[in-house]
Amino acid sequence: MSKTLHQRVLVTGSNGLVGTKLVERLKRREDLTLFALSKGPNRIQDKQGYKYFSVDITDTQTLKAVFKEIKPQAVFHTAAMTQVDQCEREPEKCYTINVEATRTIAQLCKTYEAYLLFLSTDFVFDGKKDPYDEKARVNPLSVYARSKVEAEGIVRRYLPKQHCIVRTSLVYGYAPHLSRKNIVLWVRESLLAGKTIRVVIDQYRTPTFAEDLAEGCIAAFRRQATGTYHIAGLERFSIYEMAQLIADHWKLDKKLIRPTTTEALNQPAKRPAKSALNIFKAQVELDYRPHRFKNALALIETQLNPPAFPMPEPLWF
Ligand SMILES: NC(=O)c1ccc[n+]([C@@H]2O[C@H](COP(=O)([O-])OP(=O)(O)OC[C@H]3O[C@@H](n4cnc5c(N)ncnc54)[C@H](OP(=O)(O)O)[C@@H]3O)[C@@H](O)[C@H]2O)c1
Repeated sequence: MSKTLHQRVLVTGSNGLVGTKLVERLKRREDLTLFALSKGPNRIQDKQGYKYFSVDITDTQTLKAVFKEIKPQAVFHTAAMTQVDQCEREPEKCYTINVEATRTIAQLCKTYEAYLLFLSTDFVFDGKKDPYDEKARVNPLSVYARSKVEAEGIVRRYLPKQHCIVRTSLVYGYAPHLSRKNIVLWVRESLLAGKTIRVVIDQYRTPTFAEDLAEGCIAAFRRQATGTYHIAGLERFSIYEMAQLIADHWKLDKKLIRPTTTEALNQPAKRPAKSALNIFKAQVELDYRPHRFKNALALIETQLNPPAFPMPEPLWF
């Protein structure tokens, strides 16, 4: 633990789901000074315990000035263009944010000798034969996925001994300010509103509770783990199966969930059919212990309906 004592740590994409969960945890730690960065104004409710910068990561000069000011010793780089269909429609924008800005951040980490933890995706795989471990061959099917493969390569090249690439899958969770929905919030809110939803039966994932992912990333950082790690959920479900479980949990009308296929949905970006991640390496080396999907739903319920009297902080493990 001595290596990480009183480090200056930066989280990019702090307004996003993963960034928020990282900030919530890291700001409570007394052994580091925390900085957070996202494009818009800070939307995290609790603004204590860290300094926030509103910065577009494609603005190289401003990003350089921020690094000069804070001289981070570790960076959790979660900021990205994350909507895969939007990336397909706007490939140049996707490349600028996901590849070029990651190159700038990797360069700056090299300059400041900072450890870089980079968030990547199960979509680097083609989905023909899961589960995938860290050594499996990548074969991206979309603009978003290609941008992540390219960014992974940059991170490895610039920081061969000081990087951690964390590939994750279908992250879900709750925070009050999120700008985009995830599978759990989307299914729950749609069914609560009585809306019919079409959900694919032929795409399989290992859905990842955002709280677990944040814990896994922090475990990697604490160990200064180097290389690639798959940090995802324990269970493999089709997206349709997940929707059923979400409806069961909140006792919502399952008839509103209409099964469909990838072909019928015909989305702009191709998705891998079966992209479950093998998390064995993270379990063994990082002591990563994710929640079961059903237990994570129960925790999200407590976040959505906080008790009238404050309770002790939940123990995530
Ligand atoms: N969510 C998933 O299912 C999933 C699956 C696999 C991998 N990942 C990876 O995990 C990481 C985090 O995902 P997430 O779900 O937390 O994403 P998210 O909720 O979409 O958040 C991404 C954040 O990045 C920030 N951002 C985007 N463009 C930016 C720019 N040009 N400059 C500065 N900040 C910018 C946004 O900030 P503002 O809100 O301030 O605009 C946004 O809050 C991403 O790298 C993603 O590719 C996610």
